[in-house]
Amino acid sequence: MIIKNRARRLRSTSMIREMIKENHLTASDFIAPLFIKDLKIGSEPISSMPGQVRHSFKSLREEIIKLKDHGIKAVALFPAIDEKLKTKDAKESFRKNNLNFRAIEAVKSLAPDMLVVGDIALDPYSSDGHDGIVDPKTGEILNDETLEVLKKMTVESARAGADILGPSDMMDGRVAVMREELEAKNFKHTLIMSYTAKYASAFYGPFRDALNSAPKKGDKKTYQMDPANAKEAIKEALFDEAEGADILMVKPGMPYLDIIYQLKQKSTLPIAAYQVSGEYAMIKAGAEKGWINHDAVMMESLLSFKRAGADIILTYFALEAARLLNK
Ligand code: PBG
Repeated sequence: MIIKNRARRLRSTSMIREMIKENHLTASDFIAPLFIKDLKIGSEPISSMPGQVRHSFKSLREEIIKLKDHGIKAVALFPAIDEKLKTKDAKESFRKNNLNFRAIEAVKSLAPDMLVVGDIALDPYSSDGHDGIVDPKTGEILNDETLEVLKKMTVESARAGADILGPSDMMDGRVAVMREELEAKNFKHTLIMSYTAKYASAFYGPFRDALNSAPKKGDKKTYQMDPANAKEAIKEALFDEAEGADILMVKPGMPYLDIIYQLKQKSTLPIAAYQVSGEYAMIKAGAEKGWINHDAVMMESLLSFKRAGADIILTYFALEAARLLNK
C-alpha cells in the first residue's frame, strides 16, 4: 500500500514544526491582573493563588518594572479594600483618591506606556459582596441603581488615567451608560473591554479569597451567565458591540474555549480571554503535587486561547510565561 497522505511528514523535525506553527504566544498577548492593598510596605501572599500577592505601592512599582522588562504591555488592577470601607451603597468605589484610583495613577506615572485596565464593578467595595446594589427588602440585585454608581466609577477611573475600562459586573446597559458618560466628559480615547460573556463560575473562588469579596448571601446567578448557555453569549456580544464596547471578553477561559471561538467568528472586535484564579490555582496545585509539568501545562493552556481565537489573554501567569518566551 502507498500512503500518500503522511501527516507525520510535517511533524518530523523541529524546524518543520516551527515553520508551520499556526499559533504563537508573545508577551504582548498578555494582561497581568494585579492585586493591591493599602499596606505600608511589602506584600501579602494569597494562599489559594501561589505566587500571587496583594501589593503595597512599593511592591506594585517593582512588579510593573519587571513586567515591562519582560515585554508585557498591560495590567489589570484589583483593589483589596479595607472591610471598614465596604458599605451597602459601595460609595468607596467612586471616592476621589481611593486605593484603586491611586494605584492607577501610580502605574501611569511610573510607566506611562504601560496600559492600565481599571475594573468597573462594585463587589470589592460592597459589604454585601455583590457586583450590584442589593435591595435590602427583597435581596434583588438592582440593575439601574447600580448603573448610576458605575457611571461615577467610570469617570473617576478615566480621570485617574485608566486606558481601558473593564466592566466585570454583568448589569444590563452598563456599556452604553459608560460610553455615554465617557463621551460626555470628553474621554474619547478610553477603551471599554467588556466582560461580555462572564459566567456564574465556581472558578472564581481564589479571587474572592484575595479580595475577601465573596457574596455574603446568595450567589451571582441573576446577573452572571449560566454555564449551560452558549447562544446567550452571542446575544451579550451583540448588545456590547452596539453599546460601544471596543473589546469583548470571555471568562473563565479554558472551560469556555467554545465561547471564545464563537465570538471570534461572530464579531469583528478583538476577543480577550480571562484565565481566572481557579484555573491558575489548579495548575499550581497539580504542579506542587508533582502530578503535572508546571511550565508545559502553563504554556499549553495559554496557547489554547490563541488557537480558539483570543487576541488578548488575561492571566496570572503573565510574568512567568513571558520569562519562558524571552529565554
Ligand atoms: C468581580 C470579579 C470576579 C473576578 C474578576 N472580577 C469574581 C466574581 O465575579 O465573583 C474573578 C477573576 C478570577 O477569578 O480570577 N467583579
